[in-house]
Amino acid sequence: MVGLGPKRRPSRRGSMTDVPQDLLEQIKHFEEVFTVDSTKLKQVVDHFVKELEKGLSVKGGNIPMNVTWVMGFPDGHEKGTFLALDMGGTNLRVCEITLTDEKGGFDIIQSKYRMPEELKTGTAEELWEYTVDCVEQFIQHHHQNEKLSSLPLGFTFSYPATQEYIDHGILQRWTKGFDIDGVEGEDVVPPLEKCFRDRGLPIKVAALINDTTGTLIASSYTDSAMKIGCIFGTGVNAAYMEDAGSIPKLAHMNLPPDMPVAINCEYGAFDNGHIVLPLTKYDHIIDRDSPRPGQQAFEKMTAGLYLGEIFRLALVDLLDSRPGLIFAGQDHTLIRTPYLLDSSFPAAIEEDPYENLQETADLVQSKLKLTATSSELEMMRRLAELIGTRAARLSACGVAAICKKKNIESCHVGADGSVFTKYPHFKARGAQALREILDWAPTDKDKVTIHAAEDGSGVGAALIAALTIKRVRAGNLAGIRNAKDMQAFC
Ligand code: GLC
Repeated sequence: MVGLGPKRRPSRRGSMTDVPQDLLEQIKHFEEVFTVDSTKLKQVVDHFVKELEKGLSVKGGNIPMNVTWVMGFPDGHEKGTFLALDMGGTNLRVCEITLTDEKGGFDIIQSKYRMPEELKTGTAEELWEYTVDCVEQFIQHHHQNEKLSSLPLGFTFSYPATQEYIDHGILQRWTKGFDIDGVEGEDVVPPLEKCFRDRGLPIKVAALINDTTGTLIASSYTDSAMKIGCIFGTGVNAAYMEDAGSIPKLAHMNLPPDMPVAINCEYGAFDNGHIVLPLTKYDHIIDRDSPRPGQQAFEKMTAGLYLGEIFRLALVDLLDSRPGLIFAGQDHTLIRTPYLLDSSFPAAIEEDPYENLQETADLVQSKLKLTATSSELEMMRRLAELIGTRAARLSACGVAAICKKKNIESCHVGADGSVFTKYPHFKARGAQALREILDWAPTDKDKVTIHAAEDGSGVGAALIAALTIKRVRAGNLAGIRNAKDMQAFC
């Protein structure tokens, strides 16, 4: 409730003075397990660089380093009208993008549809039917009574996919809590196109895209210093441009060694072997109880899907290990519900502007039906800070690792995702971590800087579809399966 209590002082140092000793000890314990110092960050990055390399090798490793067949950056003169379908995790979005005559210009119309929770664990048929329902609704809404000519589609499918071609993608495994039977190990393009055909929609998948690749391409469209595209959202991941000659697993294709190929790292899977990440018992519980234990170790510590759950698990741990220490004599049923809290919960706590943490108290009351004392509020505030700071600092490791691997001294990084855009202090904490990892002199300005990206899954997808069609027209068919069909659509 806004308007209650005195406004917070700028610094909260000393606000713990009234917290009882045994709760202070618990806070100290949280500080120990959630703090990642510079030395640890550097160890993580060193291991990260090795895992990036390994993913490009023939044998492979934890990080898939998926070849995307996006070959090169746009020049700003791409043209045409494209559909983009974005299946990201939380929402489904359909866009129509027109790349206009003006250099780097575009027009966009779009509609967003909530991805129903039950769909994420439903059947493949339900998934594709729902997806095509949304596209059909979009077309009906925006092109009522029009006779549509064929439309090329950039399909942003933000899960790890093996692509032998750009218009093809075999789902390696579901991530971000999805668990739909009958899709893993299958090419996702044919069932989608079949549904389009069954409904008489003249739509052809020109390119299957990861959100990170879309972000990389869309950002570089307007800023040539952009070298990495990142998502810090429900999941975490990055894409960057590699030279074909540095991709041993593509050696058999004899591509020109300096040919650029975008790599979708899928580095949410970093350190699935649990060698270097500073895992807490809460991270282990999240992994154990997830639909894919042993997968996405890095993502489970840093991504939006998990931050609220880490927070909840830490509180439940206190309730169990120190009965009576917090929320004494109250009903703890609600707080024991897995995934009750999403990342907006710790984010809101960190943003509480009141000295007496009144907004936090209201939130805890409404969401958990618990009445918190001022000490409990202080403890939760600190816990939220620790979890948010750890996520931001570890997130910086992925960016730093790509820079180290590619010997990039300075560049811009295009970033998107709910954690990047909404989680308080995420950007500043990440920037500070980059400074520590990359050892910039105190007088140096930041050399690698992370910026809000252009819309990767909309504009990026359209650009990639345009680049693909341009390649078809030029007869540069490496990594394109249905060149003939596509020509018919150009
Ligand atoms: C997950 C997905 C990945 C995606 C990321 C961000 O890590 O596996 O493909 O890029 O989430 O959405």
